[in-house]
Amino acid sequence: MEDLDQLVAQARANFAQSATPADLEDAKAVFLGKSGRLTALMKGLGSLSADEKKTHGAAINLAKQAVEEALQLRRQALADAELERQLRSEAIDVSLPGRQHSPGGLHPVSMTLERIEAIFGSMGFEVADGPEIETDWFNFTALNTPADHPARSMHDTFYVEGGHLLRTHTSPMQIRHAVQHVKRHRANIDAGRGMPEIRVIAPGRTYRVDSDATHSPMFHQCEGLWIGENVSFKDLKVVFTDFCRSFFESGDLVLRFRPSFFPFTEPSAEIDIQFASGPLAGRWLEVAGSGQVHPNVVRNMGLDPERYIGFAFGMGPDRLTMLRYGVNDLRLFFDGDIRFLAQFR
Ligand code: PHE
Repeated sequence: MEDLDQLVAQARANFAQSATPADLEDAKAVFLGKSGRLTALMKGLGSLSADEKKTHGAAINLAKQAVEEALQLRRQALADAELERQLRSEAIDVSLPGRQHSPGGLHPVSMTLERIEAIFGSMGFEVADGPEIETDWFNFTALNTPADHPARSMHDTFYVEGGHLLRTHTSPMQIRHAVQHVKRHRANIDAGRGMPEIRVIAPGRTYRVDSDATHSPMFHQCEGLWIGENVSFKDLKVVFTDFCRSFFESGDLVLRFRPSFFPFTEPSAEIDIQFASGPLAGRWLEVAGSGQVHPNVVRNMGLDPERYIGFAFGMGPDRLTMLRYGVNDLRLFFDGDIRFLAQFR
């Protein structure tokens, strides 16, 4: 009969060499399988005498128990190793930094627009929005700028299909807004009862064929319009002075109305501001065009220029933003460089 101790030792060695559960099952079959070595020994007992059966059978059983025990230990060891490997591969390093949520912020020009809206809002101006793709009528003709007018050459723009163009200023909103307002009050106006004053600002994007450090083909403007029966240039001066002083938080800022020309206002003025202190102190800085709305424009609003009068202005929010934050190149606003924009968060 086979040496049982040697058989058990061999089983232990084979099990120890099995690196995977599948290998281990193969090794088990060699000893405990249907045609395994221990099974064969058991089968061999049949040819022995009753006494021999007893002693040999007991010895084989002991060997079988030892092999089964070794198998069980190896199974457990392999399962433990597998679990360990899995845990390691799925390990979470709780000491790693978490995902960063960097807070966004408004674009500096948007902050200026919100500021403009808040300040004019406090003075009773509503805010209107209008199309960036305009008709020739609203952008030019209705604003007293007929097709052959030389002022058009300063407003070269991008023309799109169907005779439309990208608006060169926000002034078309003077007409668009006034026409709507007048329509709502037509009956009262015709009956001589008048209408509530028009007091509106219209911020938005505008376009011109122009590009350098202080001009961008797309830029922003904010139109202002105040029409009533008794609105004068004096009111324009008060409103715009108040606006500039609040906007720049500078009570001693002064304004200069420099005579100028726009086809849609008469008289017209460029508005310059001067700071009393700070890096820009003592310099005149142009911030807006303005003037008393031309009678032809008042007529195109659907109103009688003998009765209705007022003023309009158009300012450059990009310019105001540059002045407020000391930015020297307009293009920085539109490059989308996060290092620049993050400074305004
Ligand atoms: N629309 C003019 C421009 O873009 C500015 C302006 C607006 C002037 C309103 C007078 C009144 O240059």
